[in-house]
Amino acid sequence: MTKILVLEGVTKHFPVNSFRKHGQFVHAMDDVSFALNNGEVLAIVGESGSGKTTTANVIARIYKQTSGKVIFEGKELSRFMPRVEELEYHKKVQMIFQDPFGALNPTRTVGRIMERPFVIHKIGRGRREVDEKIDEILVQVGLEPPIQFTEKFPHELSGGQRQRVNIARAFAVEPDLILADEPTSMLDVSNRMSIMNMMLFLKESHGVSFVYITHDLAGARYMSDRIIVMYAGMIMEIGPADRVINSSYHPYTKLLKSAAPSPESGLKRIPLTTGGDIPSLINPPSGCRFHPRCPFVREDCSKEIPTIKKVGDHHYARCIL
Ligand SMILES: Nc1ncnc2c1ncn2[C@@H]1O[C@H](COP(=O)(O)OP(=O)(O)O)[C@@H](O)[C@H]1O
Ligand code: SF4
Ligand SMILES: [Mg+2]
Repeated sequence: MTKILVLEGVTKHFPVNSFRKHGQFVHAMDDVSFALNNGEVLAIVGESGSGKTTTANVIARIYKQTSGKVIFEGKELSRFMPRVEELEYHKKVQMIFQDPFGALNPTRTVGRIMERPFVIHKIGRGRREVDEKIDEILVQVGLEPPIQFTEKFPHELSGGQRQRVNIARAFAVEPDLILADEPTSMLDVSNRMSIMNMMLFLKESHGVSFVYITHDLAGARYMSDRIIVMYAGMIMEIGPADRVINSSYHPYTKLLKSAAPSPESGLKRIPLTTGGDIPSLINPPSGCRFHPRCPFVREDCSKEIPTIKKVGDHHYARCIL
């Protein structure tokens, strides 16, 4: 299987913007390594603050990594790319953001918003072809008939419709990779399922690869072929979606699973039980970053960062047990 994207030992440290903590860094990503196969959906799951968005932003080159390699379509991305190459990359790698409203320019109609990527990336010969392409993709995301939407402004649309515009815009330029950062978390439940199904349909019909970020394990399982579980800036477990869910290995994955809404819990979200919140990433815990919360913690857990070990077929976890 060919790999579209490979991350090798990627770190991202943000300098802390405070006089008292001058010279310190937020360790938002540490030693993040994974590969995405062509056509695959890979989910990244973890609580808020675990480094998911930073990972997407590093892949999208919104931020440059502190160290490590990002390899796309077989080529390592250099820190500084010529403008043309950077633009080409931004066409091939599209993002869908969490906030469907914030991502759309409120002063432009849907038609104008949809036109922008065609102009920027010089796609389509002439007005007519661009309009046809826009209509086609709007129909694919369920905004039909397109004429009813192209003249509207974002504030005239519902949250679900706005996110459909964002998704249409991401797919319009025929990218190779889509990074979707919690695309349904701000939508009401009634919209979530149809938007997830629509993204899966578009992913198949447009033949793209997909990184799907979510804090919801059930959503990750529904959407993805494989799941990465991130905690405090590091990958804790990675493997085929069914194995990560049904044969979870890492204590943190088990904790996430126990907190997920289930029929037994009346579909209510149970608070994460073991003590404490996600630790400060300015001074991350020594050794295993999960040790202050881990129910199975042992003395040596705080000594060294555990390496990622194979625990099954294509299944890996970062735990000394
Ligand atoms: N631009 C930034 N500057 C400084 N710290 C940041 C920045 N972006 C994210 N962080 C920090 O990095 C950590 C990971 O954040 P993020 O990647 O947004 O996590 P998630 O998406 O999993 O909630 C957090 O501690 C966050 O405060
Ligand atoms: S290494 Fe230790 S603290 Fe970390 S998850 Fe495994 S048992 Fe828990
Ligand atoms: Mg985030």
